[in-house]
Amino acid sequence: MTKQPIDSILIVGGGVCGLGVGWRLAQAGRPVTVLERREIGPGSLPAATWASAGMLAPHVEAEPGEEKLLPLLLESHARWPAFARELQEASGVDVGYRTEGTLVVALDRDQAERLRFQYEFQRSLGLELVWLSGDAARQREPHLSRHVVAALYSPHDHQVDNRQALLALRQAFLAAGGVLRERATVAEILVGNGEVQGVRLASGETLHAPVVVIAAGAWSATLPGLPPEAQPPVRPVKGQMLALQTPPNAPLLRHVVWGRDVYLVPRKDGRLLVGATVEEKGFDAQLTAGGVYQLLRRAWELLPGIDEAPLIELWAGLRPGSRDDAPILGATSVQGLILATGHYRNGILLAPITADAVSHLILTGETPESIRSFGIERFHR
Ligand code: GLY
Repeated sequence: MTKQPIDSILIVGGGVCGLGVGWRLAQAGRPVTVLERREIGPGSLPAATWASAGMLAPHVEAEPGEEKLLPLLLESHARWPAFARELQEASGVDVGYRTEGTLVVALDRDQAERLRFQYEFQRSLGLELVWLSGDAARQREPHLSRHVVAALYSPHDHQVDNRQALLALRQAFLAAGGVLRERATVAEILVGNGEVQGVRLASGETLHAPVVVIAAGAWSATLPGLPPEAQPPVRPVKGQMLALQTPPNAPLLRHVVWGRDVYLVPRKDGRLLVGATVEEKGFDAQLTAGGVYQLLRRAWELLPGIDEAPLIELWAGLRPGSRDDAPILGATSVQGLILATGHYRNGILLAPITADAVSHLILTGETPESIRSFGIERFHR
């Protein structure tokens, strides 16, 4: 049995949410250990943090039916600039925060009608978006297809390099005194007398702790030992993605660009990310010919200039989808067992508020107002 400080905290999952909560707790001087079953970095695929695109886009991604989630997304969005600055200062890693904004483009009249509906809905929520003609969109992005007939411009939908942000969080967490254990698979969450008691690792080692945070993304519901009422209703939702290389000094795009069922995300180093499929295939994270073909075809329709671009990476990730697409945050009926999972398509965007709110709950015993309607109990009503 490994001796732990009496008030130690264990976090299961070394993604942007687990490390974010861990960083805040370590900054507050609490002994905290993050358990990650793989290695943070490329080896963590298909976990969602490494796989994602880093879009911080609550405005253009606002959908009918998700109005309750929007305030949380907007609050986290508002925290990102300071979070990125603080993270960069603490880690020395540039997290690639970019503020050029996002375009959503329509390639024909049918798409333009849908876009008009989206524009009116999002404006009715008070979101700032600008309607552009096809020519005005091409003035912003000259390589866009001549078939683009209309576009939305969203000045406040930014992006961050999610991979750099994860590496920065790892660094900041360690610098603040956190303990990181990679290649540490949790075999059981230990619960007794209505309280969490720690975890048992696959190696046989037992770690005792009065607080355990489940931030295991798509795997959060599969951890053995969770009582049914504390098991978050989370499932994997596969997204295939790819990256093209474009010249960093002559990029094809500056904005994030969305088309129908595709998005393009330009990075500072010239990488152009193309994403993503949305597939219910359980934990199957295989790439498929059809998935990659659809992404390339849709990307090429928007941006024919990619024709000669080297295809440098293909990958798939598993989003942690909850039953209502909103995250599951906060306490459970098991004393000391806390959830920070189910972020679905918004994990990177929601990282700052998840880190702040969940650490606040652990440090003070109080659930912040911002996350009160996102507890697991909403699924039990
Ligand atoms: N947020 C983008 C995606 O989930 O594909």
